Amino acid sequence: MTKQNMKTIGLLCSGGDSPGMNCAIRAVVRTALGEGLEVYGIRRGYQGLLEGDFIPMDASSVGNIMQHGGTILQTSRCPDFHDPEVRKEAVHLLKRKKIDGLVVIGGDGSFKGAIALYKEHGFPVVGIPGTIDNDISGTNYTIGFDTAVQTAIEAVDKIRDTAHAHARNFIVEVMGRRSPAIALHVGVCTGAENIVFPTRGVDYDQIAKDIKRGVERGKNSSIIIVAEGKKAGLSYDIQKNLLEKHQIEAHVCILGHIQRGGNPTSIDRFLASKMGFVAAKALINGDYPVVTAFNDGEVGITPFENCLETKLEYEVPYMELVKALSI
Ligand code: ADP
Ligand code: F6P
Repeated sequence: MTKQNMKTIGLLCSGGDSPGMNCAIRAVVRTALGEGLEVYGIRRGYQGLLEGDFIPMDASSVGNIMQHGGTILQTSRCPDFHDPEVRKEAVHLLKRKKIDGLVVIGGDGSFKGAIALYKEHGFPVVGIPGTIDNDISGTNYTIGFDTAVQTAIEAVDKIRDTAHAHARNFIVEVMGRRSPAIALHVGVCTGAENIVFPTRGVDYDQIAKDIKRGVERGKNSSIIIVAEGKKAGLSYDIQKNLLEKHQIEAHVCILGHIQRGGNPTSIDRFLASKMGFVAAKALINGDYPVVTAFNDGEVGITPFENCLETKLEYEVPYMELVKALSI
């Protein structure tokens, strides 16, 4: 498709919501409108697409939304979208609405669905990385990560007050699915005594040693940050092991979905705004299929293929730092 015949674009959010998605929505809508295009918001991700849940968007429809977490378009996980026949129907629905291109804001799962629309039907797509997990290959940053880290840091700072006041140990579990990114940043920024990355294996004895070393230095409490890994709840195993094997008591606090909501930080607002602008321009200029990526301090575009994997081993370059600071 050439620059001249991209007249109407669609826009959806998919997968877990993340703070800053509204800024990206606003930027896509306003950039496209400014270039003379029409824009449809598609509510509830791929599920809404399949149900034809399209709403026309004007400049005012995205006013006064930047400061809010969540997404005004709502989002969903849509297992049906794995089926090629269902995706064929999705393209049929888009074309019936005269939509020429689609912006998908989501994670690497959402991107797999988007690129399939292009590969199977030549439908123009552009992705914007939006997930608190910061786990998408091909980009150093995903919208929502900074806000989620900030939220978790504030929670751990509060827990630290109680830990000290009552001389208690706490095991605080943060989100991120298989990604260790939130745990790493929260652990370093709150001075955690140990950060547990389940992808590296759990060294139960080391956790106990770190707590005991603190006690020997006169500390009355410790904070252990746990990355949730494949399934939330690992903290309870650690708690049990500490008590039964080392007679160390610890309280568990799983932060959970508090990390997904809230007002986006300036970093999320700014990068989401730039990504939304770049995404709309890419569709208009015929530069697709691409994902907007933040690398080397700049937002640019990168081929979809670079952004379809979950980034693993994020913590590796920081392990020396983590060890040096937690003695
Ligand atoms: P995220 O986009 O945050 O990684 P998910 O992995 O849950 O979140 O994916 C969100 C949605 O993207 C899924 O519910 C599904 O609709 C779609 N999706 C994920 N993986 C695929 C795939 N391999 N093929 C087609 N659609 C997919
Ligand atoms: O991908 C974002 C995320 O918040 C992960 O950190 C977490 O494991 C998962 O989503 C929770 O999923 P749900 O949206 O189903 O609660």
